[in-house]
Amino acid sequence: MEEEIMQKAADPLIVEGVVETGAQRGRELGFPTANLSLAGDAVRGDGVWAGLVRLLDEPDSWPRVAAVSVGRRPTFYDRRGPRLLEAHLLDFRGDLYGRPIRVELCQRLRPMRAFGSVEALVRQLGDDIADARGWAAAAGLEALQRDRVHVDR
Ligand SMILES: Cc1cc2nc3c(=O)[nH]c(=O)nc-3n(C[C@H](O)[C@H](O)[C@H](O)COP(=O)(O)O)c2cc1C
Repeated sequence: MEEEIMQKAADPLIVEGVVETGAQRGRELGFPTANLSLAGDAVRGDGVWAGLVRLLDEPDSWPRVAAVSVGRRPTFYDRRGPRLLEAHLLDFRGDLYGRPIRVELCQRLRPMRAFGSVEALVRQLGDDIADARGWAAAAGLEALQRDRVHVDR
């Protein structure tokens, strides 16, 4: 869905797209993600980020704080693996599949790494989420992290 991914010229670290289904591994690992495929190298910034996700079909809703991975997931794939953006929304329950979102990559947390085991990756994901919370708190965005009821439509 190349044409649906648009990199904003003014800010190359904003990515918009329609959420695709992943391998569902994220759910099994306890960290569900909203996935956007990235066409080629159109979006720079491989690594793990703290960011904000806006649900474009709910223009009045607050953005959500997220821990976002950009890259080829070297734990599971080699260099030819698909380049993907995966956003784990903090304190969010709900299915975003098929919905348009905008992801803002705000603070780079670390590079992508190949982990020796799934357990090691899961431990790091816990740290990434804590770091994303820390970034939001430092940026004065705690109010966005309050658990709120998600209304399915
Ligand atoms: C915050 C965050 C950080 C991640 N960091 C890495 C990483 O360093 N290396 C890696 O191989 N995959 C990383 N991933 C991707 C996970 O491997 C991926 O989310 C998981 O395998 C689920 O994939 P699926 O959505 O295709 O099921 C990260 C994902 C998130 C949400």
